[in-house]
Amino acid sequence: MSDVILKNISHSYGAVRVLDQIDLTIRGGEFFTLLGPSGCGKTTLLRILAGFIRPTEGEVWIGDRDITALAPEKRNMGIVFQNYALFPNMTVKENISYGLRVRKLPAEERKRRCEYYTELAGLKEYEDRRIQELSGGQQQRVAIARALVIEPQMLLLDEPMSNLDVALRVKMREEIRAIQRKVGITTLFITHDQQEALSVSDRIAVMRDGKVLQTGTPGEIYDAPNQEFVADFVGFSNRFGGRLVRPEQMQLKRDGEGVPVEITDIRFGGMYYEYRVRSQEGEYRVLELNRGNASQKWKRGDTGVLTVLTEGSGANA
Ligand SMILES: Nc1ncnc2c1ncn2[C@@H]1O[C@H](COP(=O)(O)OP(=O)(O)O)[C@@H](O)[C@H]1O
Ligand SMILES: [Mg+2]
Repeated sequence: MSDVILKNISHSYGAVRVLDQIDLTIRGGEFFTLLGPSGCGKTTLLRILAGFIRPTEGEVWIGDRDITALAPEKRNMGIVFQNYALFPNMTVKENISYGLRVRKLPAEERKRRCEYYTELAGLKEYEDRRIQELSGGQQQRVAIARALVIEPQMLLLDEPMSNLDVALRVKMREEIRAIQRKVGITTLFITHDQQEALSVSDRIAVMRDGKVLQTGTPGEIYDAPNQEFVADFVGFSNRFGGRLVRPEQMQLKRDGEGVPVEITDIRFGGMYYEYRVRSQEGEYRVLELNRGNASQKWKRGDTGVLTVLTEGSGANA
């Protein structure tokens, strides 16, 4: 499978520049995520990849082929839009096989593929239902099956989970990831949700104001952010001794070496305790797993010392 390469892409809507010199390589078979706040240019970049928008500058390549000028229908991309864009009056089966009829595939091949992807998306028992008769999660599965059935060279997912409630979002992202692994298709996933990005991606590009700030594995982005914005966007971090330190990388001890602190607040999170502590220099958050009786039993007003557990390679504060 070929790499997909965005070379020095910039884009302006009228006089407004919304993408600024984007260079990205999405490796063949990889699950690649664009993560960034609303308005940073994620959808514009996806539309450039799909061919709906011609970039003001730059090129799009697949392997050794320049596809910058290629029409969308010739790019063979499977796309899942935020609102799914399903045909409400058609059944599940009709929605899934639509792209195959448009492409005039032989009836036998249409049937085979439709059955395979219906099954893969877990929709067998709903195949004759109409779209209005499905839950949000089921509709999303139809959208994914419909995108995959054309056997595209790439799958593009634009915030596919944003219409689902939190619990369903977690379940669906795992399903999408499992399906992607099984099919092995190169995937570009868009989200503004850092948890979602960290949990499903092979690699992530963090975007802000039309620029890619950092590209890396979830571990690299979280543990070694290259700047403050990236650190803050993927989780909370303390400013501690001129560095950015995650709450779970800090440790409270009764005594010994460390920065003297007072516990100002304790929040119980079930799986963990979150302590707010204060030193002469500032305030910090410390996370500790709840280990039942093995947990330290701190009370508000207790004093202790604060240390950093690991020498992370995080950005400077
Ligand atoms: N068709 C358009 N015409 C003019 N401005 C647009 C158009 N589409 C998007 N924009 C603007 O471009 C910027 C990036 O938008 P978009 O790519 O949709 O960001 P995201 O998907 O990250 O939320 C935003 O400021 C948005 O308002
Ligand atoms: Mg968008």
